[in-house]
Order: sequence, then structure tokens, then C-alpha cells
Amino acid sequence: MALYSEKVMDHFRNPRNVGTIENADGVGEVGNPVCGDIMKIYLKIEKDIITDVKFETFGCGSAIASSSMATELIKGKPLSEALTLTNKAVTEALDGLPAHKIHCSVLAEEAIKSAIKDYYDKNNIEYDKSIFPDESSCDHCCKA
Ligand code: FES
Repeated sequence: MALYSEKVMDHFRNPRNVGTIENADGVGEVGNPVCGDIMKIYLKIEKDIITDVKFETFGCGSAIASSSMATELIKGKPLSEALTLTNKAVTEALDGLPAHKIHCSVLAEEAIKSAIKDYYDKNNIEYDKSIFPDESSCDHCCKA
């Protein structure tokens, strides 16, 4: 069996939603200190709906495919739904990733959460802090 699914290869070769958004409503950037890869997510939000999303990923093919799929999964969705997106859902939508590449999909989940948190912070919107990883501990990004 091939190491990577057709979907992973497709999203790696033709990533959707690559780029930046000028005057984005929320921007999230996360990195994995183990591999050094970095992912940045830009959100345009109108009335709690993600009307546009773009990403820049400086990382491996799995991270690029994960970013691409994750942006597709949250585009047009309410923030409440985007917040429930897990790396598992991203991996499943890609028809799987090799075990040693699962951490790449974690970056996508965390980058989206970080961008939503940025939006909440910028707009002084109250939120449940427990839904966001504790940025003071590097726990969320070091579980490679
Ligand atoms: Fe670093 Fe994939 S190896 S995100």
C-alpha cells in the first residue's frame, strides 16, 4: 500500500486556500519545535461565520495537505463548528496519515484554534479559555 493516500497527494500537489488575507479578522500561527515546521492561518469572519480562510505552511507535505484539508473543512462554517475540528477529523478526511505524520495534522487543528482565539481577543469577545491550548506550556505542539 502506498504510504500516502490519493487525497493526501492531491492536497499536497494542489493545495486549496493557499495565501494570506489582508486585514484578516483572526490570524493564528503555530509551530512544531521538533521538526521546525510552521503553519499560519488567516480567517475572514462575518457574523460568526468563516467566510474566507487562507493558509501559509512552511513544512512537510503532510502539514501542507492537512492545512489544505482543514481550510476546506471550516470554510463557510460557524466558529462554533470550526472550534470542534480535531486533527483526527482532518486525518480521516485525508483518508489517513502514516502514524509518524499524525503530528502534522495537529498543527492544522491548533492553527485554526489560535486564529479564532486571536479573533476573540481582538474583539474582546468572551470565551471559554479551556477550549484553547495553554500557550505557556508547549504541550500542544511538542507531542510529536
Ligand atoms: Fe513537521 Fe510534518 S514533519 S509538520
